[in-house]
Amino acid sequence: MKIYEALRKDHVEVKALLQRLVELDEDTDARTRVQLIDKIRDALIPHSRAEETVFYNSLREVPHAKDVIGHAYQEHLEAETLLRTLQVAGKVDAGWLKAATGLKNALEHHIDEEEGRMFAIAEGVFTDEEAVMMAQAFTKLKPEIKAESLMATTAELIANMMPPRFAKAFKKYNLESRI
Ligand SMILES: [Fe+2]
Ligand SMILES: [Fe+2]
Repeated sequence: MKIYEALRKDHVEVKALLQRLVELDEDTDARTRVQLIDKIRDALIPHSRAEETVFYNSLREVPHAKDVIGHAYQEHLEAETLLRTLQVAGKVDAGWLKAATGLKNALEHHIDEEEGRMFAIAEGVFTDEEAVMMAQAFTKLKPEIKAESLMATTAELIANMMPPRFAKAFKKYNLESRI
């Protein structure tokens, strides 16, 4: 399996979960809704972090991929802000459908760009062998990220957005300050 297929599989899963959420019956109890939102979080956050670490960070060194990658990082940030709004709205029973629809639309747009423009650039840059290695790294990394706290994964997102030569120092600082 190449990285493209590994990422696509996750995209299908996240989209299906969001579809289920927006189709929930109005009289569904809050617990079911919160559980589904947690599932979306557990699918989305490890995917995004592992995707940034393995896939985006390999592509950002490529001059003609810079803009696409910068834009995608921005969309990850936006998606996570929308997710947090959804988590709050889901618990208090207010505005959750609007929040869910907002996140669903934002992610569908993001995924379309990823599988379109970004995959096209990546396929021109990575060899098949590299793409297979990346899928393996991605699959290994994801469950580890899942086990981390939300704070840690947020710090990781910011570290991934830093210029590569400063990212290490940022990660180190954050790891130390977390203890
Ligand atoms: Fe993705
Ligand atoms: Fe993404």
